[in-house]
This record gives sequence, structure tokens and C-alpha cells, in this order.
Amino acid sequence: VVRSESGEAVGSHSVWSSGAKVARGILVHEYGAAQVLKPSRVEVGSPARGDLRLRQTFVGVNFHDVYVRSGLYQTLSLPGIPGVEGVGVVEEVGTGVEGFETGDRVGYIEAHYGGYASERLLSAARAIRLPPGLDDRTVAAVLLKGLTVEMLVRRVHRIREGDWVLVHAAAGGVGQLLVQWLKNLGAHVIGTVGSEEKAELARRAGCEQVVMYRREDVRDRVMEITGGRGVDVVYDSVGRDTFGASLESLAPCSHLVNFGQASGPVEPVALAQLAKRSSTLSRPIVFHYIDRRLAFEEMCASLFSVLEKGELRVETPRVFGLDEASAAHSFLESRASVTPIVLAV
Ligand SMILES: NC(=O)c1ccc[n+]([C@@H]2O[C@H](COP(=O)([O-])OP(=O)(O)OC[C@H]3O[C@@H](n4cnc5c(N)ncnc54)[C@H](OP(=O)(O)O)[C@@H]3O)[C@@H](O)[C@H]2O)c1
Repeated sequence: VVRSESGEAVGSHSVWSSGAKVARGILVHEYGAAQVLKPSRVEVGSPARGDLRLRQTFVGVNFHDVYVRSGLYQTLSLPGIPGVEGVGVVEEVGTGVEGFETGDRVGYIEAHYGGYASERLLSAARAIRLPPGLDDRTVAAVLLKGLTVEMLVRRVHRIREGDWVLVHAAAGGVGQLLVQWLKNLGAHVIGTVGSEEKAELARRAGCEQVVMYRREDVRDRVMEITGGRGVDVVYDSVGRDTFGASLESLAPCSHLVNFGQASGPVEPVALAQLAKRSSTLSRPIVFHYIDRRLAFEEMCASLFSVLEKGELRVETPRVFGLDEASAAHSFLESRASVTPIVLAV
């Protein structure tokens, strides 16, 4: 059990022990705006069987954390510590753990939260040893987003050379990585963005065409660009505001992949909408795809390989201190971010 200063249990990775260590953590006591993220002192026990205790160096900030904090998902039991990815050094290894030892540098993604802290307990099944060529800050900025992209282009849909693809929020954290990976696979990418500055970034990532979706009609522009045929795949993480245009932009026998809802949840869809063009609709979550250890290792190897070869460029992350988690969330929600965001511990 991880406990806050007041003695509340705020996590459930390990058995409470009298030798617990005091750490810093960001607690949420009630769902709400960014200000509900409160720096606190927490106690972290010893690792149970199968667990590691990690001293963290950098923690990734993701839009997922915003949904969790605001209460849209209601998946964090309160009081609780949000955060699904980080990088650190193994300080203690629980019994029954194979493949990790004290001093190992590891990254992880963990659907059960607890990331926004200086130390944490973690199931070894969620951790991966890091290649020496990749620094902590870069991995914290890119692990969840990069594995999501790997899932999107290789597993949810196998992208083929020559495919036409529409990517919403193409200059976002996931967006820039997704566009680059699609380009490397030989796809033609149309990106949507919210500002001129972001249009430039989307082009630099590899978009052949950029649509300013706050003032241009996405469907009309896509049809103009594709000669009236539409796109083979849409990757839509914006949700409510873009979903209708995504459906209308599809070519025959196409695939609409909704993987996020930055503007709000999507309304229910009538199957007949898909029948219009024999389209497929998917709603993937990366945590399901990494649940099997073998798949997790394969996806990490694939991501680390493109990063090490320089085939995937990561913008220098914007760094906030752990205690500034609230400012980091406000910044992400303001739509002003053009680089990934990490918290330095
Ligand atoms: N399914 C999964 O497993 C999975 C895993 C990871 C991430 N995701 C999803 O991927 C998306 C991107 O995540 P990220 O962390 O990289 O964030 P991000 O793309 O850096 O930020 C979200 C972007 O969405 C756009 N947006 C459009 N309408 C918005 C609104 N009403 N409020 C805020 N932003 C709005 C903004 O770009 P513009 O200014 O250009 O409009 C904003 O920068 C999120 O939806 C996230 O949930 C899903």
C-alpha cells in the first residue's frame, strides 16, 4: 500500500511495511480542474512478490492524465496518484522477479496509475530495461505515445505504401510521432491542426497537406486533395468535434480509428453510417495491446529501434517539476503545447 501523510491508502501495489520510505507524490482528492493536483508526501512500502521499487527520474504527462484527473474516466480511485508512464532506477526487487536487478534503468507504462511520484512500486511485468543510447527524459516523453503509434500503424491497421491517411491533431504529442511513422511506411498523410505554428510542425513531421480544422471544412478539403475518393484510414484522437468529418472523409473499404477524445466523447454511431462505404470502426486502447508480455517487448523493441536509428525524431520535451504537475496539465489543456511534456523528479 502506498499511503499519504494523513495515512490514506493511495495505491495498492505492495504490502504496507514499517520500513516504508517517504517520497513526494501528486495526489488527487477530488476530480476537477488542474488545481486538484496537490503535491504531498507519501510513504512507499517494500515491493511485494513480482514487484519493483523504482526511484523515478522523469514522468511522462499525457492527455490521458487529463481525462483521469477531470473525472471523465472515473478510473482513478480517490485519493490517488495519476500518471501512467515514467523512467527510473530499480532500488529494490521483490521476490519472484526475473530479469531485473537493483540499479537497472527502466521505463514503464502502467494502466493502474501511480506515476506522478518520486518513488513508486510497480509490477515488473510493466517495466522494460532501456537501451543505453536512449536518455531518461526522451523515453519518459515518448514511451506511451510511441507504443500507441506502433499499435496504430502496425496492429490496429497495417499501413501499406501509398495509403492515404488523415491524422487529426497532427502536431500534438502522439500526432507528430504518428505522422513521421506513417511517412516512413510510405503513406500520404493529411494532417489537421489548430494554428499556423502547428501547421509548420505538422509539415515538418511529414504531412503532405495540412488542414486548419478550426476554420476549414475537413471533409471538403480531404475530397479536394484525394480527387473525390477520400482516405483509406483516419486516425482521430480529437473525438466529438471531428468524428462527423472523419466519417465523411472515408474512401470505400476504409478504416476509421478513434483513439482519443480531446474535445469530448463521441456520440453513439449507427452501423448504417459504416455501411455507406463498407468502413471499419475501431476504438483501441494501448494498455490492452501491451497486456501480454511478449507483445509489450516486441512493441518496445520496435519503438526503440526507430528511435535509435533516428527514424523517429522526438521534439525536445517541455520540462516541468514534479510539484508543477498542475501547471503542466493547464498547459496541455490550453492546446498551446507543441512538444511532449515531462515532469522532472
Ligand atoms: N487510445 C490510446 O491507447 C491512447 C494512447 C495515448 C494517447 N491517446 C490519445 O491521443 C491523443 C493525443 O494525446 P497527447 O498526449 O499526445 O496530446 P496532444 O495531442 O499533445 O494534445 C491534444 C491536442 O488535441 C487537439 N485538440 C482538439 N480539440 C481540443 C480540445 N477541445 N481541447 C484540447 N485539445 C484539443 C489540440 O491540438 P490542435 O491545437 O492542433 O487542435 C491539442 O494540442 C489524446 O486524445 C489521447 O487521449 C490514446
